[in-house]
Amino acid sequence: MLVDDVAEILITEQQIRQRTQELAQAISRDYSGEDLHLICVLKGGVVFLVDLMRELSVPHSVDFMATSSYGADTKTSGVVRILKDLDKSIEGRNVLIVEDIIDTGYTLNYLMRILRERGPASLRICTLLNKQERREVDIAVDYIGFNIPNKFVVGYGLDFNEHYRNLPFVGVLKPELYQA
Ligand code: PRP
Repeated sequence: MLVDDVAEILITEQQIRQRTQELAQAISRDYSGEDLHLICVLKGGVVFLVDLMRELSVPHSVDFMATSSYGADTKTSGVVRILKDLDKSIEGRNVLIVEDIIDTGYTLNYLMRILRERGPASLRICTLLNKQERREVDIAVDYIGFNIPNKFVVGYGLDFNEHYRNLPFVGVLKPELYQA
């Protein structure tokens, strides 16, 4: 079973639910009376998005983007490839990017740069997980679920070779599964 590949549960299902409710309350308060537009970065962010949006008490719309890094080149160039762009314009809208994890920061740094050029009224970030230790470019993050240590985590949207995204908790993968 997938769960047997997990060495340690870092964040339980209950802790995620509780923190998601707290974040949703803060977001609902901050965007009260505003036109809120959520942008989910596929694929990892989708599990968090669907739970977060169901806790929001403010009306909002949703759009999706998919990105991929240019392999090893990302480390030096910070260039991210857009696999799927947004369906709708974000001009004049209050945009909140929803992510599962911020690691080096390259993905969001690039996304913030290109989305800002499209003229949103505001542009903020909400991430469930933040690995500050791994950061290589500075990112101002407005809503953070959990700061986590630099461990190989899976579950709740996060994958290893496309598996484990469906685990209801965030866990540390057993090292023997990804170490040669
Ligand atoms: C993960 C995550 C972020 C990015 C963060 O996506 O969802 O988009 O990496 O890393 P960074 O801060 O180092 O740029 P991933 O590329 O694993 O794709 P996935 O969500 O489809 O699994």
